[in-house]
Amino acid sequence: MHPSRGVLLTRRILSRRFDRSSVASFASSGSSSDGNESKRINLFPALLSASVVAGAGFFVWKRGFGVRVAFADARPPPKDVDSFVPPKRADLPTFSKDEIKKHGRSAERIWVTFKNGVYDITEFLESHPGGDKILMAAGGSVEPFWALYAQHKTEEVMEILEELRIGNVDPKDMQAEAKSKDLSDPFHNDPIRHPALLVNSQKPFNAESPASLLLDSFRTPNDLFFVRNHLPVPEIKIAEHKLTVEGVGIPKPITLDVEQLKKKFKKASVTSVIQCAGNRRADMNEYKKVQGLMWTGTAISNAKWSGVPLRDILIDAGVDPNSKEIKHVHFEGADIDPTGKPYGASIPFAKAMSEEVLVAYEMNDEPIPRDHGFPLRLVCPGNVGARQVKWLACIRTSDVESPSHWQQKDYRAFSPAVGFGDHMDFQSVPSIQEYPVQSAFCTPVPNASGDVITADETIDVAGYAWSGGGRGIIRVEVSPDGGKTWFSAELEHDSEQDLEQMWAWTLWRASIKIPEELQELDLVCKATDRAYNTQPETASGIWNVRGLLHNAWHRVKVKVNEA
Ligand code: HEM
Repeated sequence: MHPSRGVLLTRRILSRRFDRSSVASFASSGSSSDGNESKRINLFPALLSASVVAGAGFFVWKRGFGVRVAFADARPPPKDVDSFVPPKRADLPTFSKDEIKKHGRSAERIWVTFKNGVYDITEFLESHPGGDKILMAAGGSVEPFWALYAQHKTEEVMEILEELRIGNVDPKDMQAEAKSKDLSDPFHNDPIRHPALLVNSQKPFNAESPASLLLDSFRTPNDLFFVRNHLPVPEIKIAEHKLTVEGVGIPKPITLDVEQLKKKFKKASVTSVIQCAGNRRADMNEYKKVQGLMWTGTAISNAKWSGVPLRDILIDAGVDPNSKEIKHVHFEGADIDPTGKPYGASIPFAKAMSEEVLVAYEMNDEPIPRDHGFPLRLVCPGNVGARQVKWLACIRTSDVESPSHWQQKDYRAFSPAVGFGDHMDFQSVPSIQEYPVQSAFCTPVPNASGDVITADETIDVAGYAWSGGGRGIIRVEVSPDGGKTWFSAELEHDSEQDLEQMWAWTLWRASIKIPEELQELDLVCKATDRAYNTQPETASGIWNVRGLLHNAWHRVKVKVNEA
């Protein structure tokens, strides 16, 4: 993922790890690539000190445990460190997982674990080349994070780690993990999730992607993709799973298993966003109270989906692409509610016949994980997440919309005139399909307390933008002062998609000089799509009781210190 050997690595790691005086000759050679370097305070020299000779290709590495000389350009190839197990240290105490948990991000001393080792990372924090992301593992294991950031799987990192060692994980706790499931709990078979997900509800599981990790990759890693479940995750054996295709215009229902689907039809791929209709509901709630899970700004992710175009399956089942009888296509999942009904939704027939709509079996080139619909999921690019039915078991053509609760009595947005306690005539408003234009900050991380910047500096801001219906993002503008002055952000589009059919998100970034007179930045971002739709300034005109489709300007406040 990142260069992890040779001089480059030496410079990157060591220039951050050592105090500025010790890297003076290094920095003056112009090799420090990190503009923020000068602002970092380095505590790590308490543990390590060094002298670095940049051009010579070697460094002397002095540690508390002795002196090591390494030839940066002449090192042997990296060893497989996946199998590295920290040695049991009989000289160090043993800690229970409960005790380790107490050393989370707000504790005085911050601990992490790696396999059976316990490490105190308090002094290492400031020197960590990955910044405060390390705190995500505070009080727990680094392993799920290193699965994402594989550049940690090196001997150097193992060595640093062992020097921070303070103990052993209680072996009883290590064995006890993954046991003790309550079989009467309908959620007992739910999968294990990545600890970085920001959980809004455990049962059913609903969690956002962490804003601080979301921009690290254009395609969201599967483990970090936000999760929106309405029911327990069904446990499906792939060999037994069947997809039924039936309904209006289909002479005889057909049934396909996953293997048949893969063999019979040509594979297609699309990179597409999925966004929950309730994304940014918490912002709308701040404007005026709404009902629902309080998603902040990251119930949205972007992945490459591969599978079979739905139109190919429908045509194979006998559907006339020009049919005037078929108006909607229904989808049912294998997740079942307490009344025995499956999760269901529908999309208009015209959209169902568009080539980008897939019955997907892969997510980012891997089988779709259980939380995201294993083994089959409908992917309907440009539409709201609620229609992209997971654990897909049935496709049904029809002249009416799906009778499902989630189509008929949910995911419909009322006027701001309809308040709490008013009669809700669901038939008076259409079901949500295409999403309006959206953008939000991920940097600075919204709601992170203590963000402070100094006047006269520049602040780096970044985030995502996306619009439904394939309407590409033509610009994102950022304001430091609540919308009085605006700066254009630099955009990163999916290079394989054009503005007319852009299903992937657009990532954006800008560096803004802080106006001197400001005491607090009222950062605002807004995006404009290919149809020149722009986000509304406030929630006033779009407020709705259920807090759906909130896309007003996104705001983050940052305090400014005097220069
Ligand atoms: C005690 C635990 C940890 C140690 C000793 C450690 C050490 C390091 C080192 C030496 C590097 C530089 C690697 C290179 O440039 O090739 C690095 C980079 C990085 N680390 Fe960690 N790390 C730890 C935990 C974590 C955790 C829990 C995260 C969570 C996400 C994390 C995120 C990152 C990231 C994103 C980078 C890349 C920074 C860049 O490319 O500029 N680290 N870490």
